Amino acid sequence: MTEKMVVTPWEVKGEIDYNRLIEKFGLQKMPKLPKDFDHYLFRRNIVFAQRDFNLILDAIKKGRPFGMMTGLMPSGKFHFGHKLVADQIIFYQKLGARVYIAVADIEAYCTRKPDLESLRNLAIEEYLVNYVALGLKPENCDFYFQSERSSKGKRASAYYSLANMFSMNATFSEFKAVYGKITPSKMSCSLLQASDMFHPQLPEFEGKIPVVVPVGVDQDPHIRLARDIARRSKFDFLKVASTYHTFMPGLKGGKMSSSDPNSYIALSDSPELAEKKIKKFAFSGGRATLEEHRKKGGIPEVDVAFQLLRYGLEPDDSNLKKIYDEYKSGRLLTSELKKIAIEKVKEFLKKHQLARERARKKVGKFLR
Ligand code: TRP
Repeated sequence: MTEKMVVTPWEVKGEIDYNRLIEKFGLQKMPKLPKDFDHYLFRRNIVFAQRDFNLILDAIKKGRPFGMMTGLMPSGKFHFGHKLVADQIIFYQKLGARVYIAVADIEAYCTRKPDLESLRNLAIEEYLVNYVALGLKPENCDFYFQSERSSKGKRASAYYSLANMFSMNATFSEFKAVYGKITPSKMSCSLLQASDMFHPQLPEFEGKIPVVVPVGVDQDPHIRLARDIARRSKFDFLKVASTYHTFMPGLKGGKMSSSDPNSYIALSDSPELAEKKIKKFAFSGGRATLEEHRKKGGIPEVDVAFQLLRYGLEPDDSNLKKIYDEYKSGRLLTSELKKIAIEKVKEFLKKHQLARERARKKVGKFLR
C-alpha cells in the first residue's frame, strides 16, 4: 500500500495527488496564460495552481506596476528544488515586477535557534550567490533580512508595526488550526511572515499594488492565514496573489530535502559528485529486465532522471518530448536516459559554478 499523502509546511510524504490538494486547499488551476508569459515552469504545469493570479495578469496586461514577494529559510545547501523558486523570481523580475525577497532568519532562529550571524552568512553564500549567478539583478530588488528590514527608519518601523498590528486580527483557534501545537514564538513568526507578504503595499514601500507570492504548495497554510488576517485588518490591502509549484522529486523519490544530501543535487556539488549521485540514487522508471523494458516501455512520470530534465535541465520542449516518447516506447533505456541527464547536469554545474564566482563579487549591491 502506498503511504498516505501528507502535505503541511513541516512534513511532505506519501504519493502526492496535486488535484486533490487543489480541492483540499481551495486553490484554482492556472488560467490560460498570455503569450509573453512564456516560461518552462508554466508551460510544463510545474506551477500548477494559484490564488487570485488574475490580479497579476491584469496588471501585466495593462502595463501597471506589480510586485513579487517570497521568502527563504536559510537551511543547508541550495539545491535544484530551491532553483525552482529562483527561476520564478528572475522571470518575474524580467517581466518588470518589483521584487521582494525575505530571508526568514527570525523564523529560522525561532525554530532552530542558531545565531543570526551564521544564518546571515548561509543566506548570502548559499542563496543570494546562487540567485545572482542564475540572473537576479539588483535593480528593482529588495533583498532583506527579517531581523534587519531596512536602514531607513520609517520603512523598518512600518514593516514591524504591521506585524504587531496584525495580531489584532488573528485568533488563537486559527493559529491552532495551522500549527497544531502553538507557541508564542510560532505566533510571532507567522505575524512577521504575514507582514512580509503585505508590507510591500504600504505607502512607505510600493503603495497598493498587486503582489504575487510564488511558493511550494506545502506553504499554502501560511498564505491562507496571512490572507485571512489581512482581510480583517483595517488596512486597505489588495489580496496577495499566490502560485504553487509541485515538488522537485528527490533522487530516491519523495521530495528534495536539505536534510538528506543523497536526496538532492546541490548547485555547489562538483559535476563528478552529481554524476555519482544520479548513477547511484536516481530512482528509475525503467523495467526490471531489458526485454520487459523494450516491450512495455519506461515510466517517465516517476523516473527521476527524466524529471530532472523536465524541471529545467532540458529547456527545449520539443527535445524533452522526444526523450519522453523514446523512453515511454522502450527504445530509450534507463542507462541511456541517465546518461543524458548526467551530461546536462554536468554541463549546467560547470557553467553555473563559474557564474557563482563572478556573482560573489556582486552580492554587495543587494546588501545596502
Ligand atoms: N516560511 C517560509 C519557509 O519556510 C519562508 C517565508 C518567510 C516566506 N516569509 C515569507 C515565504 C513570505 C513566502 C512569503 O520557507
